[in-house]
Amino acid sequence: MKIGITSDHAGYDLKETIKKYLIDNGYEVVDFGPENANSVDYPDFAKKLTKSVISEEVKYGIGICGTGIGMNIACNKAKGIRAALCSDPLSASLTRQHNNANILNLGARIIGDELAKNIVDNFLNSEFEGGRHQNRVNKIED
Ligand code: RB5
Repeated sequence: MKIGITSDHAGYDLKETIKKYLIDNGYEVVDFGPENANSVDYPDFAKKLTKSVISEEVKYGIGICGTGIGMNIACNKAKGIRAALCSDPLSASLTRQHNNANILNLGARIIGDELAKNIVDNFLNSEFEGGRHQNRVNKIED
């Protein structure tokens, strides 16, 4: 499975940690930057990530900024993107099962590395349940 990942400066270290974790676990990873922790603007990187998810270059995206909030707001401006900011593993499972989320956003200043890995695991290993949830997702798209 191919996963896109991006961050801003505040999320850079966690991006590198999660990228390595994904590769070590057999995922193919496309890194949309940044390449260092110099100050950048998260909407620029959210845009690269959303384009790759919409074009199906990658199946899912992971975005990381300080709180995860800015990245999440920016990602959800793109039609077809259902981005979820998660700080716990249960929410990560449920947003795949109920919302068919296609981008997971994380706050590097909010959660630690091990919790972030657990959240990523649950997100990537949970399937959309369809049914009544599909009707609701369709209404979001409309
Ligand atoms: C950067 O200082 C910070 O504002 C950003 O990473 C993010 O938390 C915004 O939502």
